[in-house]
Amino acid sequence: MSIYSRLLNVPILWNLSQAVFGCDSQKKKLYRSVFSRTGRLLDFGCADGNTFLAFTDFDYYGVDINKQLIDYAAKKYHAFNNAHFVNADILSHPFEDDFFDYALFSCTGHHLPDTALFPVMEALSAVLQPGGRLHFFDTIRRPGKDSGLLKFLISIDQGKFMRDEETYMKIIHRFSRRLKVVTYKTLSITGTLMPQPDYFYAEFEKV
Ligand SMILES: C[S@@+](CC[C@H](N)C(=O)[O-])C[C@H]1O[C@@H](n2cnc3c(N)ncnc32)[C@H](O)[C@@H]1O
Repeated sequence: MSIYSRLLNVPILWNLSQAVFGCDSQKKKLYRSVFSRTGRLLDFGCADGNTFLAFTDFDYYGVDINKQLIDYAAKKYHAFNNAHFVNADILSHPFEDDFFDYALFSCTGHHLPDTALFPVMEALSAVLQPGGRLHFFDTIRRPGKDSGLLKFLISIDQGKFMRDEETYMKIIHRFSRRLKVVTYKTLSITGTLMPQPDYFYAEFEKV
C-alpha cells in the first residue's frame, strides 16, 4: 500500500498532509474563485470534506468511495444542514440525473487512468442539469519547469496518472458529448511552505 493510500485511510493524517503538502487554504480559495453563484454542488472525491468550508453557502453534496473519510466528514460537519456526505462509487450512479447545478472534480484526475477518468466524466455529466457547470482541477507535471524538490514530492505523494497540460488540452474535448468546454487554463499556486505543482483547470457546460 502506498504512503498516499495509507494517509487516505486515516482522515486526521490525510487532513494534516493536505494542510502541509496540499496547501488546503489556497486550494479552497482557488476552487471557490471559479463559482460566481451558489447552488446545488456535487464535490466528487470529497475525501474527508477538506474543501467543504469553501462552500458553506451551497447545497453541498460530497461523494467519496472511501467510507472512513465520509464518516469522518459527516461527523465533523454534522452541524451544517446544507452538508450531505455520501459514501458511494460515482460510477454506481448514486444520484438522480439532472440533479446538480455544479460539479467539482478536483485533484483526483491524477489518481485515475483514462479508463476510469472518462467514465467518471460521463457519470458527472449525467447528474448535472442542462446548463449546469463542471469545474475540473488537477495537478499537472510541467517538464522543464518543476523543481527537483517538487518532482520528489510528486513521486512520493501523488497519483500514478499525473498528466501534462498538452495531454489535458487534447482529452478534455473527448470527455463526453454532453460536456462542452467553456474555458481552460493553467494555474499556479505560489507563496506556500511546500512547492506546489501547477493546476490544469477546465470549465464545462452540460449540453
Ligand atoms: C485526492 S483525493 C481528493 C482531493 C480533494 N477533492 C481535494 O481537492 O483536495 C481523491 C478522492 O477521490 C476518491 N475517489 C476515487 N475514485 C472514486 C469514485 N469512483 N467514486 C467516489 N470517490 C472516488 C478517493 O477515495 C479519494 O478520497
